[in-house]
Amino acid sequence: MKHVISIDDFNIQQLERLFRLTDQIRQSPEQYASSLAGKVIATLFYEPSTRTRLSFEAAIQRLGGKVISTENARELSSAVKGERLEDTIRVVEGYSDAIVLRHYEDQAAEIAAEVAQVPVINAGSGAKEHPTQALLDLYTIYSIKGKIDGLTYVVSGDLRYGRTVHSLVKKLAHYSNVRIYGLSRPELALPQEYVEYLKQRGVSYSSCISFDDVPSTVDVIYHTRTQLERMGTNGKEIAEIIIDQQVMNRFGENTILMHPLPRNQEIAMEVDEDQRAVYFQQSRNGMYVRMALLHTLFER
Ligand code: NCD
Repeated sequence: MKHVISIDDFNIQQLERLFRLTDQIRQSPEQYASSLAGKVIATLFYEPSTRTRLSFEAAIQRLGGKVISTENARELSSAVKGERLEDTIRVVEGYSDAIVLRHYEDQAAEIAAEVAQVPVINAGSGAKEHPTQALLDLYTIYSIKGKIDGLTYVVSGDLRYGRTVHSLVKKLAHYSNVRIYGLSRPELALPQEYVEYLKQRGVSYSSCISFDDVPSTVDVIYHTRTQLERMGTNGKEIAEIIIDQQVMNRFGENTILMHPLPRNQEIAMEVDEDQRAVYFQQSRNGMYVRMALLHTLFER
């Protein structure tokens, strides 16, 4: 594997291997403390980030590598002087052994990978993809439920602009007997290309507008924030779908509640105390999954 541009870059076997390695790294991190010895990795972020950048940087350091970073490349890098992404990548690859890139354009990771001689890892590209988030989301499901096949999922919130949902549903479509409910305001429904993709792969997808339309036995609820930054002022008029304790009470004890974070009001704080809310565990898993990914990428 060279670049990580899309969740499509991973087949189910590769994911299984990655998840087993993640388990091992969680158990014995010291065994991997020099996997990236002598490597310098660049984190090049053109959009805000807390979890993705810091968990990548923590992962690199815990594997014995070093980090160079621009956390606000949109305003503080030579992009302000009009430098093209292609040129920035050609320069940064001269300093580093891999580039972790987050960018506001849907095609940014592909463009970077075309010119880069070192691996490019997509840490979020526009509204399109967030493959490493999907890795940690799938790992979280696998580690709690013991499987990804045969489960019923609700993806909810902003299904239109939420890149984490796009990467996640694309890969869920490759597992067997998966059923997905898409719960959103009509304006934020899952784009047709993903609905078609699910249909082609024989996944049952139902679009709905209320938690009343969803069975109380669902295995996973994956809720998301309205991506206001991708829709100008119109977004403010779209009422948020809120999960509070009353909504959670509709579901059984085995329904887990996930969220990529950051959250606004779409999950009430009171829900944090509910054992079924796993979003902080999910974000912690991000560091270990990224350690496994980086270890694999540099394995000889
Ligand atoms: C997500 C993203 O950047 O797409 N955040 C993350 O990486 N955990 C989700 C979001 O911003 O809503």
